[in-house]
Amino acid sequence: MVQGNAFGIDLGTSNIKIYSLAGDSIMIEKNMIAIANKKDVFAYGDSAYDMYEKAPSNIQISYPLCNGVIADINNMEKLVKYFITDMQGGSLKPAEFYIAVPTDITEVEKRAFYDLIKDANVKAKKIMVVEKAVADGLGLDVDVKNSQGVLVVNVGYDTTEVSILSLGGIVLSRLIKTGGLKFDEAIRQAVRKEFNLLIGQKTAEMIKKSIVSLEKEGKGAVVYGRDIVTGLPVEREIPTDLVVNSLEEHFNTIIDSIKVILERTPPELGADIFRNGIYLTGGASQISHLAGLIQKGTGLKVNCAQHPVESVVLGLSRILKNDSYKSVAYAIEGMGK
Ligand SMILES: Nc1ncnc2c1ncn2[C@@H]1O[C@H](COP(=O)(O)OP(=O)(O)OP(=O)(O)O)[C@@H](O)[C@H]1O
Ligand SMILES: [Mg+2]
Repeated sequence: MVQGNAFGIDLGTSNIKIYSLAGDSIMIEKNMIAIANKKDVFAYGDSAYDMYEKAPSNIQISYPLCNGVIADINNMEKLVKYFITDMQGGSLKPAEFYIAVPTDITEVEKRAFYDLIKDANVKAKKIMVVEKAVADGLGLDVDVKNSQGVLVVNVGYDTTEVSILSLGGIVLSRLIKTGGLKFDEAIRQAVRKEFNLLIGQKTAEMIKKSIVSLEKEGKGAVVYGRDIVTGLPVEREIPTDLVVNSLEEHFNTIIDSIKVILERTPPELGADIFRNGIYLTGGASQISHLAGLIQKGTGLKVNCAQHPVESVVLGLSRILKNDSYKSVAYAIEGMGK
């Protein structure tokens, strides 16, 4: 077992998820920071997000991650330190860190995740890396160490990761630049084109998340925005059909990349993949119609995650709690030297 405390971190572009072994708890916060006057941290996490699109011009609110990789190292280090300090009740104690990383990035980008923890001054005694898709599989209760073919699709905010696992390792993985953010943008554009109505990103996200229930009720989404012609604020009902049609192109991109991965998968792994089907996870995988369209497009059964936002960090928690899973994690020190 781990001596002292240990943390499992899934640094998502939109949400940072951290598991604490000591508290056996998961923290989920927006991966956002608000900087005032170019230097002072004004807010972080969910409270920075609350100010997004509303803050005065001297406060800069940003996501330090972009497309699944660290874009703003300084602010990312600050955020990690704040969150880890908060989770320890205000004072840092030595701990081990297991951090999930995408597979389809460069060695330098991977090393940056390791360096991030090392340089964040969080008293790291040990830093281990876990491929995100492997953690996803564990978090979804798949027997990743013994299965010979597991297809995991994680639809996040900036990215979608499509991976094939076998015997606890990654066989193939592709990270594509589509996800919840692209869905929100498509909805904004469709609403603007159809109704001459400008809506904010948060409104578009709210529409996206409510489609499932609105379709059940047979209603449209009632939103507030600004009329482009009159410049005045108006209320409008947006039909769900318009929203769903606007997402088709992005759904097809995801389905196509799953097909490409399947075409490249060694045939020996096909039997298990066929038997198990696809494991679909990530926050944006909950979007209405996506699971059904993937099933139709690939002919494979689709298993939807029960906790799609948390599956990576749940997998990390299983690794921290159970020594028999430790072999899926690896050290990165010395890499690239
Ligand atoms: N019920 C829902 N329906 C549709 N989309 C949802 C729902 N709940 C959350 N989302 C979307 O999920 C996305 C966030 O998911 P997640 O936390 O998995 O991403 P991330 O890990 O931060 O991003 P990435 O993996 O790309 O770095 C957001 O775009 C959010 O709008
Ligand atoms: Mg993610």
